[in-house]
Amino acid sequence: MTPEPTPQPLIEASALRKMYGPHLALDDVNLSIPHGATGILGPNGAGKSTLFKCILGLIRATSGDGKVLNLDMRTEGHLIRSKIGYMPEYDSLDPGLNAIDQVRYSGELLGMNTSSATQRAHEVLEYVGLKDQRYRKIETFSTGMKQATKLACALVHDPEILICDEPTNGLDQRARKFMLETLRKTVTEGGRSVIMSSHVMDDVQEVCDRIVMIHKGRIVVQSNIDELVSQVEEEIEISVWGGASEMESQLSSMGMSVRRLGRNMRVSKEGDETYSRIMEAASACGVQVRKMADYEPDLEDIFLLIMEKLGEGVKGTEDLMTDDHMGVSV
Ligand SMILES: Nc1ncnc2c1ncn2[C@@H]1O[C@H](COP(=O)(O)OP(=O)(O)OP(=O)(O)O)[C@@H](O)[C@H]1O
Ligand SMILES: [Mg+2]
Repeated sequence: MTPEPTPQPLIEASALRKMYGPHLALDDVNLSIPHGATGILGPNGAGKSTLFKCILGLIRATSGDGKVLNLDMRTEGHLIRSKIGYMPEYDSLDPGLNAIDQVRYSGELLGMNTSSATQRAHEVLEYVGLKDQRYRKIETFSTGMKQATKLACALVHDPEILICDEPTNGLDQRARKFMLETLRKTVTEGGRSVIMSSHVMDDVQEVCDRIVMIHKGRIVVQSNIDELVSQVEEEIEISVWGGASEMESQLSSMGMSVRRLGRNMRVSKEGDETYSRIMEAASACGVQVRKMADYEPDLEDIFLLIMEKLGEGVKGTEDLMTDDHMGVSV
């Protein structure tokens, strides 16, 4: 049997660098983003928006190469933008227009004729939940409705890839949930690819299968989320009635690795016997264990551990992302 060919990545970059004057915003970015949903994570100023603008050919990388759907980022931006929907982080809407005209206009700017742009504007505004508000002026819209309109503008030409820069910014719980569900649906039902940036791990975890983490202009991790989670050391989380400090010392004196997190403690899990050893420790110091269960790490834990590792004086993260793992796709 011949093996299935590896599908071509949607986006590839090698040694991409972007300087704003003397300021280095992207440094030696090597990237491969496959079909599906990818989250771009990084603190303020990490370079997320700059990376999106390079991918879209809106700004030109200072050096290095990049391809999007096999088109050159540096010279074929116009063609790339006809295949990508872009929801920018800034306010890109005209407050004096109603939603239908705004979305139709976005379609026309992307080369659609008036009648197909109008038809699509109706369809996509319904898709983003604005069917009943489509004739209202954007200046009367809430932040959630404006974000949804920006999403409709990005979808008007039925792009293969949707790039959303901080799509949940400023949204309340209901609008956020709807936005995330719509993005997920665009991948699972629409078969499109979504690349979204966020500061909020939960948002990324709800939509994406893969993450790229950027720190100070460099890619520090690119991996499937499941694979990253499986690399985190297993821990048991416990909480006790009173005597937490005694319990902590007792666990340590019995050779277990323990860390306090507010009212809870996490103990490194060496195997199932760790459970009985925790109970032994509790009876030795006379405390009652209230809760004891395997801890399920989430993206937030991973992100914090990685960021901690990148910082100064990092302690206790050696087991997660050793230098061998950093910057390497898993
Ligand atoms: N047009 C510009 N001129 C000069 N410096 C810029 C410009 N745009 C961005 N920068 C700088 O480049 C770095 C990366 O910025 P970028 O906007 O890409 O970060 P980001 O990860 O999107 O941040 P945020 O989470 O705040 O949106 C920052 O230090 C920023 O100040
Ligand atoms: Mg940004």
